[in-house]
Amino acid sequence: MLKQWTLGAVALLATAGTLAFVSAQEPAATQDASEAAPPAAAAATAQPIQFPHDTHAGTYQIDCQYCHFSAERSVDAGIPPVSTCMGCHTMINGSQNPEEVAKIREYAANGESIPWVRIHKVADHVHFPHMRHINAGLDCQQCHGEIQTIGVLEEPEPAWGKGKMGWCVSCHVELDVARDCTVCHY
Ligand code: HEC
Ligand code: HEC
Ligand code: HEC
Ligand code: HEC
Ligand code: HEC
Repeated sequence: MLKQWTLGAVALLATAGTLAFVSAQEPAATQDASEAAPPAAAAATAQPIQFPHDTHAGTYQIDCQYCHFSAERSVDAGIPPVSTCMGCHTMINGSQNPEEVAKIREYAANGESIPWVRIHKVADHVHFPHMRHINAGLDCQQCHGEIQTIGVLEEPEPAWGKGKMGWCVSCHVELDVARDCTVCHY
């Protein structure tokens, strides 16, 4: 029941946010807040906005692939564009960190994308196709850990195995899938 309720609530928020987008073009009071925000918050981590995975994927149970939209059909899982954030955050000001939400609106108003810092990366000579893994039925958490319980991501979870060859190969051996050198190496 609780799950249904939260899913419904998110759908409602998303719809309301989209409708509100049309009428939210006027500069609001938040503009002042966002101008004051950058220096203080930027010091906390390298990320331009303190994005809480636990709030979105935990409390509100937003599906990972709502934001990482290309995981099942592309090599990259994808990072959502600012318009995805604005679908909700034209309406939702944020009760914990409204200054972080103000930054989203500033990027959107300036037509800029948010300069997220990449965290997980395999070596350049390695090929990692997300879609093959998702279509084989693996959960994000098997490799990335319990992301929905984490506040602001700063470094990869241990489950990620540091993207080392031994981690990849041992799972491929365990599940009896391809392990020719050329499968992973260009
Ligand atoms: C489907 C709706 C939805 C989408 C899409 C969404 N958010 Fe949120 N976000 C929320 C809700 C709900 C909260 C909790 C607000 C609260 O507790 O007051 C929240 C909270 C936040 C907070 C913390 C603010 C606070 O005071 O709690 C930040 C920062 C944030 N979101 C950033 C983003 C960014 C960046 C994106 C795009 C990558 C995004 N959000 C996309 C619904 C959404
Ligand atoms: C509301 C949108 C949203 C949802 C839902 C969401 N994410 Fe994210 N995710 C982001 C954004 C924005 C970033 C980039 C900022 C950061 O690294 O925190 C990100 C970053 C990540 C990264 C690190 C990317 C890198 O740079 O290496 C992983 C891994 C990840 N998310 C996994 C997940 C998983 C697993 C779920 C579901 C449990 C999930 N995300 C749900 C928006 C979302
Ligand atoms: C089999 C292990 C595995 C699974 C399952 C997996 N990932 Fe990843 N993920 C990785 C690896 C390895 C990288 C680094 C890839 C690279 O550098 O090319 C990565 C990178 C990412 C990134 C950063 C950049 C990008 O766009 O790819 C995001 C975001 C991400 N994963 C999200 C997810 C989400 C969401 C899911 C579930 C839908 C998921 N991953 C499932 C292993 C996995
Ligand atoms: C948790 C288990 C697991 C981990 C960890 C894992 N893989 Fe996989 N991998 C799979 C499965 C399952 C498949 C799907 C095989 C299929 O589609 O039949 C797969 C498929 C692949 C394929 C496509 C194979 C083909 O036949 O074309 C590549 C390439 C690949 N993985 C690379 C990697 C790399 C590189 C890493 C580490 C960075 C990695 N994998 C980590 C389970 C894993
Ligand atoms: C399932 C995927 C996968 C397969 C199969 C695979 N590798 Fe790798 N390999 C990787 C990854 C991921 C790295 C990057 C490790 C790192 O960055 O630390 C790597 C790194 C390497 C390196 C660079 C040295 C190092 O350890 O970083 C060499 C050399 C190498 N692999 C050779 C091979 C050979 C030879 C084979 C076949 C016997 C093979 N690999 C099969 C995923 C794979």
